[in-house]
Amino acid sequence: EEQKRELKERILQLKKERNAIILAHYYQRDEIQEVADFRGDSFLLAQKATTTDADVIVFCGVHFMGESAKILAPNKTVLIPDERAGCPMADMVNVDGLRALKKQHPNAKVVAYINTSADVKSETDICCTSANAIKVIESVDSDEIIWVPDKNLGDYVSKFTKKKMIIWEGYCNTHDMLTVKDVEEMKAQYPNAKFVVHPECRPEVVKLGDFVGSTTAIIKYCKESEHQEFIVGTEDGTGYQLRLDSPNKTFRFATKYLVCPNMKVNNLKKVVRCLETMQPQIYVPPHIADQARASLERMLLVK
Ligand code: 13P
Ligand code: SF4
Repeated sequence: EEQKRELKERILQLKKERNAIILAHYYQRDEIQEVADFRGDSFLLAQKATTTDADVIVFCGVHFMGESAKILAPNKTVLIPDERAGCPMADMVNVDGLRALKKQHPNAKVVAYINTSADVKSETDICCTSANAIKVIESVDSDEIIWVPDKNLGDYVSKFTKKKMIIWEGYCNTHDMLTVKDVEEMKAQYPNAKFVVHPECRPEVVKLGDFVGSTTAIIKYCKESEHQEFIVGTEDGTGYQLRLDSPNKTFRFATKYLVCPNMKVNNLKKVVRCLETMQPQIYVPPHIADQARASLERMLLVK
């Protein structure tokens, strides 16, 4: 605890020296969310990168998030505490695979989840996150959509649109691990609890949800709900904001395995180190960044 306090003080000092802002995803460790200037889901964090007047962004999340921030704010320095924090789902689609699929469906427009590499975004018409996926799909002027990479979110959104969805076979290792049996056991044990679930979970699990939504939507629902008890079907870092908003409500995660190991790679020591050394920095080759930027900016304009 004493060491944590010292690290936090050092971070405050370095932040001032560097004119830096710390952005943290809701899935980060509590200690990181505590020092963050801004917490959010992947949509809110991308948006924040475009509006902050800091010179340096310390992006506490996974690699594609820092990369998206750099693409949207190319003149800022984007630091990430650990380069090894990747997203296995983002790695499930590459640019060659996407090009091949585009060839098979020449009239389709590509909607890519923000959980993709800059390369894939450069071949994408418009990005989305779980918070705006349905609105983004409806905004596209094509009846045929190539959707990468999350098959579970793809299945979920396909129920809200008449468009033909060509869905890639990727998934989030963390959310996809949750099973119907896990949820049914929790529901039996806590019959008064509402089950809130992220659409990155399997369709049969999502079906059991009393509420289905992105990380931010889940947080908002639980805060505003009259219910007192929740079974949570998303990553366990979300507990930080849930408990902050509603200290008297009870939140139980549906299993102890709802932990994204990549999100937990970051810690306070690494935040200090990256602010001291100004490394590692995100770099995106300008020709890729320019093409990828269009797909992110289109997403930010969808109302
Ligand atoms: P959101 O932040 O859009 O809820 O996405 C969840 C996720 O898995 C991020 O990696
Ligand atoms: Fe990727 Fe899933 Fe981790 Fe999000 S929670 S970073 S989608 S592996």
